[in-house]
Amino acid sequence: MVDTAQVPAASGTPLPPADVVPPVWGRITDLVVERGEGSWLITTSGERYLDYSSGIGVTNTGHAHPRVAAAVAAQAARLLHGQQNIVYHEPGLRLYHRLQTLLPGGPWGAFLSNSGAEAVEAAVKLARIATKRPVIVAFRGGFHGRTAQAMALTTAKNVYRADFEPLPGSVYFADYPYCYRAPVAPHDPTACAAGCAHCDGCSCDWEGRLEELFHTLVYPEHVAAFIVEPVLGEGGYVVPPVGFLPRLREIADQHGILLIVDEVQTGFGRTGRFFAVEHSGVEPDILTFAKGVASGLPLSGIIAKQEILRRWRTSAHGGTYGGNVVACAAANATIDVIQDEGLVQNAQERGAQLLAGLRALKARYRTIGDARGLGLMVALEFVKPDEGDGRVPNPELTKRVVAEALRRHLIVLTAGSHVQVVRIIPPLVTTPDEVDLALGILAESLEAAGA
Ligand SMILES: Cc1ncc(COP(=O)(O)O)c(C=O)c1O
Repeated sequence: MVDTAQVPAASGTPLPPADVVPPVWGRITDLVVERGEGSWLITTSGERYLDYSSGIGVTNTGHAHPRVAAAVAAQAARLLHGQQNIVYHEPGLRLYHRLQTLLPGGPWGAFLSNSGAEAVEAAVKLARIATKRPVIVAFRGGFHGRTAQAMALTTAKNVYRADFEPLPGSVYFADYPYCYRAPVAPHDPTACAAGCAHCDGCSCDWEGRLEELFHTLVYPEHVAAFIVEPVLGEGGYVVPPVGFLPRLREIADQHGILLIVDEVQTGFGRTGRFFAVEHSGVEPDILTFAKGVASGLPLSGIIAKQEILRRWRTSAHGGTYGGNVVACAAANATIDVIQDEGLVQNAQERGAQLLAGLRALKARYRTIGDARGLGLMVALEFVKPDEGDGRVPNPELTKRVVAEALRRHLIVLTAGSHVQVVRIIPPLVTTPDEVDLALGILAESLEAAGA
């Protein structure tokens, strides 16, 4: 761990030692940063790092975007806290209004909270109250947060839940179509025709397994909601076949089950559409968002059908800080920037550039089992090609690649249940030159890591 007492501090006063931060915060880097601009983080000693983690998918507009920073500063000077039960404020009213129109379909309403997990809690509470049914069906490999209910829905990795049993019950798990890890053989999810029930060439059989769940564990008429990520995040940046969500929507409708899409990581332009669910044309009943909405200020919430939102009786849910006035000002500025600067389009274009580069790397290394992604949510999955069926996860190599990239001033993250995936989450403002730089660093890192 870095000795922070030796780090030059802007204030001139020595910094406290790094071990004041408890070890429960697993560390990705030991960098002490002073500021950020666009895709870059700058340390206290002036070193520049290309931040392709975006603070875990948060800084979609880049670090400290001038318009967002100005909106925050102006709001902070006027009012820091205008509690939602007590007053209305302009940034909040404007944001609630805009959230009604960001997603096709509707009519939509919204509820504002602080973190992704809190948005998930709200979605589950609303689904249960709206349907008067108890059960939630989540998907294997999913990540929904750290609070008790969100942990109970999370299966991306044992460490997120295993120490905290007993967890809230009436939660069951269905299979997510993870085409690279399909039981029979890996296959390309894009081979699937839109809207098909049994995706062409997809042997994942998630639908058959769901039927099995309904026959063995739970009656579908007891299920309040499915909760699903349109692209698995922590679970390994898994892009499902395009027919998956439309078919899930049909099954939900058949049984009166609500569809919650968790867009905490995929939302606000990340995948090359404003919300990832738009790729499939599916209308959810409830959508959760956080991360990218406010460029780094804590804000989250749900967008839900108005008729469903109305079923929440007054005071059945709330919170002291939800829809904080400064965070709302940041969110309004963030949405302006995403729209005015064409960042959704840029996510598509830079995402295609990045994925093409990763596929070229995959062609050179047998240890890269899969290169995949949607928009600027892209990943490499590392395997041991000479063991088992050739898809044995390779966490050691994954971690070496991330470490070598960091040595070359590129920040990327891991993901996947076995830590076998390098995930790359650039800010949506990233440029073609930065993408090329990152690809060059990744190529060197693969070589240095012994891929
Ligand atoms: C899909 C998804 N849902 C929920 C969460 C939880 O968000 P938070 O960490 O803000 O509570 C995350 C965080 O990574 C996420 O990726």
